[in-house]
Amino acid sequence: MPQKIAAGNWKMNGTRSSLSEIQAIAEAAQDIDCTAILCPPAPLIHSAAGLAGPLAIGGQNCHHAKSGAFTGDISAEQLVDCGASYVILGHSERREGYGESDTLVRDKAQEALRSGLTPIICLGESRDQRTAGQALDIVLAQLSVSVPDDAQIIIAYEPVWAIGTGLVPSVAEITEMHDALRAQLHAIYGASGQDISILYGGSVKPSNAQEIFAIPNVNGALVGGASLKAEDFLPIMRSLAES
Ligand code: PGA
Repeated sequence: MPQKIAAGNWKMNGTRSSLSEIQAIAEAAQDIDCTAILCPPAPLIHSAAGLAGPLAIGGQNCHHAKSGAFTGDISAEQLVDCGASYVILGHSERREGYGESDTLVRDKAQEALRSGLTPIICLGESRDQRTAGQALDIVLAQLSVSVPDDAQIIIAYEPVWAIGTGLVPSVAEITEMHDALRAQLHAIYGASGQDISILYGGSVKPSNAQEIFAIPNVNGALVGGASLKAEDFLPIMRSLAES
């Protein structure tokens, strides 16, 4: 059975004063029956891990090499050393802003796994690709190249046009995509493909979480803006636990 996972992606938001939100989420998380992960900016990871309790902490990216002359980059091993156990990879903001390809995402995922991190691998189509009827083909092609050999991964389907826009695909569109992802994970990994959590991401909020979590093959969410405050993220976690 896939785990129910609520993952928060803080992106480049927050300073040490925001650690109180992580503490508030961690305290309430004890009583909410789902796996909760927060991915703050790298400088906050070590402090966040110290307060996280039942909450897991993740990075938002890592390099594909173990170590070396890569100014400004962070290795998977360094994330682990600071207390992270997950890492978001292949987010559309990195694919678009830094030209990250599917093969690079796979290399990063392999390195993350070698270091003991569980990768959260993001996939998603653009608005134009969806309008052109290419969404399924694009996302399944991303999946086939971006994933590592090992099935110890999490998948996040995040339509690029739904991220930070308040737009959300229809229930039918999410259902079609998540069913197709499940079938392809089964084709790639066999029986263990059935246990991989497939998260939906893009404008998830307390007000739409229940409807999204009721969709079969949606095993949780990757949440951006609504993960920054305990008052928004906790109701999403509760909706997931009750789904
Ligand atoms: P959003 O971001 O929830 O603010 O739309 C989601 C994400 O980018 O992971």
